[in-house]
Amino acid sequence: MTGRFKVGIIGCGHIFDAYARLSRVFAPIEIVACADIDQRAAARRAEQYGLKALGVSELLAESGIEAVINLTNPASHATITAAALSAGKHTYSEKPLALAMADARHLVDLAMRDGLGLAAAPDTFLGGSHQAARGLIDAGRLGTIKAGSAHFMNHGMENWHPNPFPYYQPGAGPVLDMGPYYVTVLVSLLGPVRRVASLATTFFEERLVAAEGPNRGTSVRVATPTNSQSLIEFRSGAQVHFATSYDVWGHGHAHPIELHGTEGSLMLSDPNYFAGALDIIAEGGRSRIDTDDTPFGSPNWREPRGALIGNYRGLGLADMLDGVAHGRGARASGELALHVLEVLLAIIQSAEDGLFVEIGSSVERPAPLDAATARRLKAVDAPAEFVSAP
Ligand SMILES: NC(=O)c1ccc[n+]([C@@H]2O[C@H](COP(=O)([O-])OP(=O)(O)OC[C@H]3O[C@@H](n4cnc5c(N)ncnc54)[C@H](O)[C@@H]3O)[C@@H](O)[C@H]2O)c1
Repeated sequence: MTGRFKVGIIGCGHIFDAYARLSRVFAPIEIVACADIDQRAAARRAEQYGLKALGVSELLAESGIEAVINLTNPASHATITAAALSAGKHTYSEKPLALAMADARHLVDLAMRDGLGLAAAPDTFLGGSHQAARGLIDAGRLGTIKAGSAHFMNHGMENWHPNPFPYYQPGAGPVLDMGPYYVTVLVSLLGPVRRVASLATTFFEERLVAAEGPNRGTSVRVATPTNSQSLIEFRSGAQVHFATSYDVWGHGHAHPIELHGTEGSLMLSDPNYFAGALDIIAEGGRSRIDTDDTPFGSPNWREPRGALIGNYRGLGLADMLDGVAHGRGARASGELALHVLEVLLAIIQSAEDGLFVEIGSSVERPAPLDAATARRLKAVDAPAEFVSAP
């Protein structure tokens, strides 16, 4: 086994660019082909990145392709991931892993049965900022974490995403679309969740697409809650308030996530990204920890409006493939994604039933990303800076 894997992407939409460009950061990843239900989309991406455009079943039948990245819409995640695993490919799925627990369990079982790698987004918790937070917590800097808060709140996707429709359907909304970033990093820091209670509402039954493209001016029917407040109790005893919204016009919460322990409070960076400073407040006062020098923490991605952010999408896939090569499990594992999915579905369920929902699955905290693994994952000729597609 060379440690470098030939990879095919299924799903050639908006996020394809980030995976295709950033694959150059990672030694284990060589993207060779792409496929989409819309063959023109696959042909376009293939031409843009010098890949082979194939049909979905052709890609799965291609014996030279060892791994698949599933970038389809959430409603297709379980079907495409199951097909890829059944074709003997190590598979990395965008989030959520599936829309139903039975499907997620089936995927984890399939991978286990056939000895294949299975991992899922988000992998931002492996970035420099959240790994530095993990280091502080494991070193006891916060004491015992008792409480916290997390906020993902904005005014939705239809202003920038050319195809916002799936994001307002069951299986998406802010809970299932953005919740994975928050809950995954919380589980990686605090361990598994015991139970969840929540309330949910929807401000707008219809939304209007304002993004450039063929859907501009079209109305989107909203079929899933777009605003929720949850209380998440971890098995450790920590209690975290989690708010999600695609409805609010703005908010004044200074930090996306805060954790409060018996010895200190930690303000984390945005779990949608890989980089960002941490603030810690303890008896001696407040201090800032810059994480720019950490592996996968340096800003490397120029956004269309000029901001330089840390973007290492593909890190979880690289780690999974490295795990396959070295006989260990993935950090962004299928089991982690399954547990996170159960928590997210429980947020929606609890709001419907008005009751606490107990979480049946559990998962070990993924191992911290050690320096030796981080070095192995990074390609020697990785570019220092990328420019986002417009
Ligand atoms: N857009 C983002 O900024 C972003 C960021 C992070 C994660 N994601 C996740 O990535 C995934 C894709 O998002 P996107 O924004 O690129 O969506 P998109 O709608 O722009 O693209 C999805 C693509 O998948 C194709 N597709 C759908 N079902 C398929 C199937 N059964 N077989 C083959 N192709 C199929 C569609 O034709 C489309 O080209 C989603 O799970 C989303 O949550 C998106």
